[in-house]
Amino acid sequence: MTVDPTPIDPTRALAPRFAAALEAAFGAEYRDTDPLLQWSDRADLQANCSLGLAKRIGEKNPRAVAERLVAKLDASDIVERFEIAGPGFINITIKSEWLAAQLSERLGDARMGVAPTAAPETVVIDYSSPNVAKEMHVGHLRSTVIGDCLARLLEWQGHAVHRQNHVGDWGTPFGMLIEHLLDLGETRAIEELGVGELNSFYRAARVKFEESDAFKDRARKRVVALQAGDQETLRLWKILVDESTAYFDAVYKKLDVTLKPSHIAGESFYNPWLQSVVDELEEKKLSELSDGAVCVFPPGFVSKEKKPLPLIVRKSDDGFGYPATDLAAVRYRTQTLKATRMLYVVGAPQAQHFAMVFAVAKMAGWLAAPARAEHVGFGSVLGTDKQIYRTRSGETVRLVDLIDAAYDRSLEIVRENSTHIPEDEQREIAKAVGNAAIKYADLSSDRVKDYVFDLDRMVKPVGDTGVYLLYAHARSRSILRKVEKEHGLKAPEAGARLLIEHASEKRLVLQISKLASVLDEVTTVLAPHKLCGYLFDLSVRFNDFWNQCPVLQSEGDTRLSRLALVRATADTLKLGLSLLGISAPDRM
Ligand code: ARG
Repeated sequence: MTVDPTPIDPTRALAPRFAAALEAAFGAEYRDTDPLLQWSDRADLQANCSLGLAKRIGEKNPRAVAERLVAKLDASDIVERFEIAGPGFINITIKSEWLAAQLSERLGDARMGVAPTAAPETVVIDYSSPNVAKEMHVGHLRSTVIGDCLARLLEWQGHAVHRQNHVGDWGTPFGMLIEHLLDLGETRAIEELGVGELNSFYRAARVKFEESDAFKDRARKRVVALQAGDQETLRLWKILVDESTAYFDAVYKKLDVTLKPSHIAGESFYNPWLQSVVDELEEKKLSELSDGAVCVFPPGFVSKEKKPLPLIVRKSDDGFGYPATDLAAVRYRTQTLKATRMLYVVGAPQAQHFAMVFAVAKMAGWLAAPARAEHVGFGSVLGTDKQIYRTRSGETVRLVDLIDAAYDRSLEIVRENSTHIPEDEQREIAKAVGNAAIKYADLSSDRVKDYVFDLDRMVKPVGDTGVYLLYAHARSRSILRKVEKEHGLKAPEAGARLLIEHASEKRLVLQISKLASVLDEVTTVLAPHKLCGYLFDLSVRFNDFWNQCPVLQSEGDTRLSRLALVRATADTLKLGLSLLGISAPDRM
């Protein structure tokens, strides 16, 4: 039998036992049948494979199939009892001693017993991707927070992750932006951009562009100069890029996001390859000229009027646009970075763009198995009025303003609740609380749905919030500190004897044991909200345990064992939160 490196999870420990029993009961060709093991409220686990098996075998009664399978299952070291229920579900009760032994072995392990993946891949995650000289808005917040969480998770699982910040740093708007910069004077422009006045900078340029023909003319000429590689124009362009990059970096640091300036591979990065993208498409006879533009018509994409839709690779004015850049990016990522999995964390409105880019990349042979690309779309951020989130005056909300508002609220809360903690530590905690509030609110709702940005709710220390989880974690740490200080007892290490006696203890340990399978599911279906749900359930179960099983008042082995459960909970919460991008202070 193969040894599973993460047997702490009973679904994994039982998988090989099921394989053996399936073979013994029905023959070798049934060995790989998925036992459909699931967590269950009726027992600890449930195996739901009997119905499908009955069909395959041609046996009318799935209960009889379940009985034959159970008769061959050799798992008495793990399983207390199998019970066949309803039409043939197999309810499984796990032995408390087995769970206890598994957890004991992994106490104090930084990975909580979860082994790195056996099949590491090179993964590109395209996320955040704001636009130069333009304010980051709440849409970029979602991309940044979701993408960073996926990057942390996949890296932790052992994949080689390339973070790619595909910033919008090229194209026609740069004509007007550079001319506006010249009008302001370099020093003033740098000042404005440096303090993050990107909205007003962009808007002022836009207004002039729309109102003055002379300015419009200068802007047009400037674009031509930029594309022709004029040195002075490039120098001015670089001021815009550098100032914005510094500004984005400050936002990432504030948000405790892992993106660094070195992860920027913006649109301009692909300029040297755009012509060759067009050439290759032409050579492969995939493109055609349509109204002077080079287009590819990938099969299956049609307009409302049922006309084939073009992906415009080179515009009729000879300029390359957004699609060309993204095609070059796919080719670069598969051929140069050697990525086999590519995740594009970009809002839902760009779904069609990516579907078409991926289709064309496949036609050109730039995206071939095992490489695959996924658009990780997400819904909008709404205000409490259920409308697109805007300021009172109807403008898009600056990301920094929103982060600052969350910090201010968090600091109030921390000052109120943590009077025993010195001022500078309070500030650090408030930063963690603010980030937890923002990130958890974003990550805990199903990514494809819209969610309501409600600061009042997000910072609440009760309910399904990040702040609630931070408190659960800090409370468990404070118990451990207290016991150490008052009784000289250190939190138990690996090998400690665990006694799972009370039902709430078993429920807590079962939850801890689910970690590996939850993480796998999260990165397979790219659903951070499942990790949030897991951690929330863990905290709820921890509270039940805490209310029902005295820890400080118990004695001897029971007390040690309960302390071990407190420690395992704290470590699991800390790990899970860190994978969400949330750092958990040890005291609050
Ligand atoms: N800059 C774009 C925007 O703000 C997002 C870019 C997404 N990534 C990509 N490879 N196209 O909407």
